[in-house]
Amino acid sequence: MKVGVVGSGLVGSTAAFALTLRGTCSDLVLVDKDPERARAEAEDIAHAAPVSHGTRVVSGEIDALEGCGAIVVAAGANQKPGETRLQLLERNADIFAELIPQVSAAAPQAPLIVATNPVDLLTDLTTTHAAEGQAVLGSGTVLDSARFRHLIAQRAEVDATHVHGYVLGEHGDSEVLAWSTAKIAGLPVADFMAARNLDWTPEIMAEIDHGTRDAAAAIISGKRATYYGIAAALTRITEAVILNRRAILTVTGPTDYGISMALPRIVGSGGIEETLMPQLSAEELGQLEQSAETLRHALDSLSR
Ligand code: LAC
Repeated sequence: MKVGVVGSGLVGSTAAFALTLRGTCSDLVLVDKDPERARAEAEDIAHAAPVSHGTRVVSGEIDALEGCGAIVVAAGANQKPGETRLQLLERNADIFAELIPQVSAAAPQAPLIVATNPVDLLTDLTTTHAAEGQAVLGSGTVLDSARFRHLIAQRAEVDATHVHGYVLGEHGDSEVLAWSTAKIAGLPVADFMAARNLDWTPEIMAEIDHGTRDAAAAIISGKRATYYGIAAALTRITEAVILNRRAILTVTGPTDYGISMALPRIVGSGGIEETLMPQLSAEELGQLEQSAETLRHALDSLSR
């Protein structure tokens, strides 16, 4: 199966590298507005193939996307220190208006996996620019949910892959940490921690909340960009699509709130196969509505 990565910057090339190391696909094609960058990234990643799974990694123009089973779209500007994701909307919406029709013309059947921020609004815009019926999904809060689970796992002193919990809504400042979904060994986190006599206080929960929301800003302040966590999330989503895993992931897609944002979805070869709505507390539902309002307002500002 061939996978395309459009945008060979730090996120796109790291995602291509992760896909290569995991042997997710037989062929990878990297595309970038700077062909020299795509060539160099593809060549560098191709040297990992002989010592991993033999993925054929090449660069090409947009027409080289033909026949892709999935395409990751990571092109555009990323956050600078102090910049919010929503502040990227104007610049990246213009890029997408020109880019997505070209990508879809080359590969109208390929599910498009959007990573560029603000990912929720750009997923919406990609749907309007993509081919009729083309599957489109966004990386959503798969990364935020991973950060949430990572911080809980540290406190619980267990393997983070065995901590479950969702961040929902905007991939951004209004995201909702759905504590009511957070479970370990089938127990709500608070019960799990009590059963093991581990500290669990409102202050610890607030620390995890801040650490999840502020993760990108904290990383960007130290190294100017995030790319390993998002690349791993994109790899997980891409695998779910091309291997038809029917994995449950909080990717961005349409919602009943009149805007695209992250909810738990069953992800398979058709992209979002089904949307699931967890049982949330009244407070979490209110926060989710607020997150949708934030995104609707930002999208309105674009159309003005
Ligand atoms: C982050 C970027 C991907 O949260 O928005 O690291």
